[in-house]
Amino acid sequence: MKLTNVPVLFVILLSIHVAHNLASKSDNSHNLKVQDKEDVKAMPVEEDTIFFHHEFEKMVELMDEVHKACPEITRLYNLTEPSVEGRNLTVLEITENPGVHIPGKPEFKYVGNMHGNEVVGKEMLLYLMVAMCEEYKKNSPLAKFIVSQTRVHILPSMNPDGWQKAFMKKKENGEADWLTGRSNANDVDLNRNFPDLNAKIYENEREHKGRNNHLVKVDKAIAMDKSLQPETRAVMRWLASVGFVLSANLHGGDLVANYPYDETRSGKSQEYTACPDDHTFVYLAKSYAYFHGTMADPHRIPCDKGGESKPITNGGSWYSVAKGMQDYNYLNTNCFEITLELGCDKFPPGSELESLWMDNAAALFNYILQVHIGVKGFIQALDATPVANAEIKVVNLASGLPIDHDILSLEDGDYYRLLGDGYYKITVHAQGFHNATRCIRVTNSIHVGSEDFAPAPRVDFALTPSDKPAPDSAEAVEACNELWFEIQQETQLDDRDLLVSVLSYLEPSTKWSIVSGELSTVKLYYYLAQALRRLQPEEMREVLHLLPHAFQEQLEMVIAATMQNK
Ligand SMILES: *[C@@H]1O[C@H](CO)[C@@H](O)[C@H](O)[C@H]1NC(C)=O
Ligand SMILES: *[C@@H]1O[C@H](CO)[C@@H](O)[C@H](O)[C@H]1NC(C)=O
Ligand SMILES: *[C@@H]1O[C@H](CO)[C@@H](O)[C@H](O)[C@H]1NC(C)=O
Ligand SMILES: [Zn+2]
Repeated sequence: MKLTNVPVLFVILLSIHVAHNLASKSDNSHNLKVQDKEDVKAMPVEEDTIFFHHEFEKMVELMDEVHKACPEITRLYNLTEPSVEGRNLTVLEITENPGVHIPGKPEFKYVGNMHGNEVVGKEMLLYLMVAMCEEYKKNSPLAKFIVSQTRVHILPSMNPDGWQKAFMKKKENGEADWLTGRSNANDVDLNRNFPDLNAKIYENEREHKGRNNHLVKVDKAIAMDKSLQPETRAVMRWLASVGFVLSANLHGGDLVANYPYDETRSGKSQEYTACPDDHTFVYLAKSYAYFHGTMADPHRIPCDKGGESKPITNGGSWYSVAKGMQDYNYLNTNCFEITLELGCDKFPPGSELESLWMDNAAALFNYILQVHIGVKGFIQALDATPVANAEIKVVNLASGLPIDHDILSLEDGDYYRLLGDGYYKITVHAQGFHNATRCIRVTNSIHVGSEDFAPAPRVDFALTPSDKPAPDSAEAVEACNELWFEIQQETQLDDRDLLVSVLSYLEPSTKWSIVSGELSTVKLYYYLAQALRRLQPEEMREVLHLLPHAFQEQLEMVIAATMQNK
């Protein structure tokens, strides 16, 4: 990960101007100003700014305002049921051709304010909508890429009733307290209200049987579990109806990017609990943390006195949470979700919102881009009909171990498999077809501040019906072997210093220490093999004998390979 070196300032600055511009230039700019200062007495606000805490009606107005400013790339819709007190759970969708899933275009979401008194995420998501719309109108390459290649859904407030309660408290006391408004109007913590699927997956793991994804049918789960709240039910149906790929759930009270699992395997209150995609989730969590103004600063003051200032944390290793939304996403949908804690203060004064936006703007954009890591493609039958619900199985080639979490293809046969950097074998398994396998190398580089943005590389599969003879897999097998050879050379023994010193010993006339920086490890091995072959067999054995055992094996492979090529 080289995220720390990436220039991020330009987006921050751009976005902040954007927010101001929309507030002052829009035809209906009165909607963006604070009309009734009495509403927000406890929180200092300025005129001509959107940086204040939006009450429910103001929030919906602002969303509507963004929609009117960018009608061709936005759509407003409400989830299937409102909150306990009847407030709609309103989503703004941002994409070209809103309203439909375009096969091949990944679906992304942000959810804010699930804990009603953790209010920063909600405001950040409102400013993000404004920024996205304005950046798009200004033809910024970043916004253009996101809007043309991604379908983004933003639910700024999942718990508007709790928000209202916390807001009233803040207005009365000048300060919110730690818990008022956290839960919904039935006093249920929504992040402890989803079906507990971890117990089920841990049992399946232990017994090596059962599914490793999409564990329950949503209608059935809702019918059977009367404790599910309206807000939870609405979100569960939403997740079942849109093929989300990546998501973040925005909270407050700390400053860290938290990734699955949240619930520990052992039941201990604190224990690192890796999910099968741990490697990818670490990458995803960093892609927020390292683009945030302060989250990854090791010198910042921890929120917890005596605690640590970590940029990212595994959920279980922080503290175990059962029935959370994050693990539910992973275990019952294709969606990878992380949980972002956006600051120590759950309900900061309105005057701090602008600088909070400065801290979060680049990270919010960067995280959306990560929906384009890994691979994607289409799964079809030989006659080109799409194959839905095919299982995309992945083996990590470097370790040889499967990633025990399958993604399913969507209705149009499109699939999206987020993966951190590495070498993988992908096998597609679908009822009524022979399996198909491809090996790939994943090198992710999409981030804010880069010159060009590209969607994930496409790997398509054409499946042969199982009543026909199995297709010849020799080519795929050979490609996998080649990739495996590459891994051997590049990852297992990347001891370049040793290579360079042996080369320098064998061929002192070449200034290896100078040119080696330009050469790949594979190339260095190649030159070493050549140099060795110029020796007498006796001398060659002597030199090989001096080298570490694994290094010798490596070299013998290279020698064998280069001889074949001759
Ligand atoms: C909530 O949304 C539904 C449709 O999504 C709409 O019919 C209803 O009028 C909305 N309720 C309010 C109070 O705006
Ligand atoms: C969604 O709910 C909001 C807020 O209650 C309402 O103003 C709006 O009309 C609803 N939108 C739709 C599309 O029904
Ligand atoms: C196809 O894949 C499935 C699932 O991984 C596996 O159980 C099955 O053995 C595979 N079939 C063949 C012929 O390899
Ligand atoms: Zn929270």
